[in-house]
Amino acid sequence: MLTFIVFVFLMVIPKALFQIPMSYEANFVSIAGAPNSLPFDMTQLRLIGRERVLNGTFKILEDFDDEHYKFAVDIYTNSARDGNFKLMPLAMPSQGVCTMFKKHGDYLRDSVKHGINTDLYINTTACVFPKGTYYLKNVTINVKRWPTIMPRGHCRHVGKFYKDGVYVGSYNITSSIEDRIPTFFGS
Ligand SMILES: *[C@@H]1O[C@H](CO)[C@@H](O)[C@H](O)[C@H]1NC(C)=O
Ligand SMILES: *[C@@H]1O[C@H](CO)[C@@H](O)[C@H](O)[C@H]1NC(C)=O
Ligand SMILES: *[C@@H]1O[C@H](CO)[C@@H](O)[C@H](O)[C@H]1NC(C)=O
Ligand SMILES: *[C@@H]1O[C@H](CO)[C@@H](O)[C@H](O)[C@H]1NC(C)=O
Repeated sequence: MLTFIVFVFLMVIPKALFQIPMSYEANFVSIAGAPNSLPFDMTQLRLIGRERVLNGTFKILEDFDDEHYKFAVDIYTNSARDGNFKLMPLAMPSQGVCTMFKKHGDYLRDSVKHGINTDLYINTTACVFPKGTYYLKNVTINVKRWPTIMPRGHCRHVGKFYKDGVYVGSYNITSSIEDRIPTFFGS
């Protein structure tokens, strides 16, 4: 019976309105850099409020570009939320920072928009990340380009930087993946 009702319901929803939203949402749990990591200083960023929005300032400690800097991301999951993280087969292999930004920057731009959430602007033609202090405000995680299926629990993205082939730093972003309350017509 329920199946039938759902079926009828789907038939009468205009196709344009029927955009399947993610079944989950992700919220920040923590942000941590290994001590003395390059190229960022993230110690002045905070997670604030009940919604744990990312806010504050960060530093780019030196100019960096594709020529000298490579970046790789490993993704871990921890369903029990007990700190026992397991590596997922979803890693982004090491690539030039700018190549990575051009290919995958939309993941970042979904959450961090120049002029709204940050004053850092990256010109993808010149593609240098310029040294300086920048703000981040009211940043939340937008999962619209994430995999449709994600295990619930804690998720950790570990971004690792290599300068001229030598490891120089890593940054962990830990988030909590939870069921999203479904809304049929909402965004
Ligand atoms: C980042 O996460 C990895 C994997 O869980 C862990 O081994 C490492 O200690 C973490 N680093 C920091 C700075 O929290
Ligand atoms: C959020 O960060 C901005 C930019 O650094 C700062 O002006 C503001 O005071 C911060 N808000 C809170 C609640 O910490
Ligand atoms: C981006 O960089 C290129 C090459 O340096 C330059 O010609 C262009 O004007 C820059 N664009 C912006 C919007 O700054
Ligand atoms: C923060 O962002 C949320 C959406 O992500 C928005 O609803 C809210 O108005 C923003 N708050 C501020 C202070 O910009």
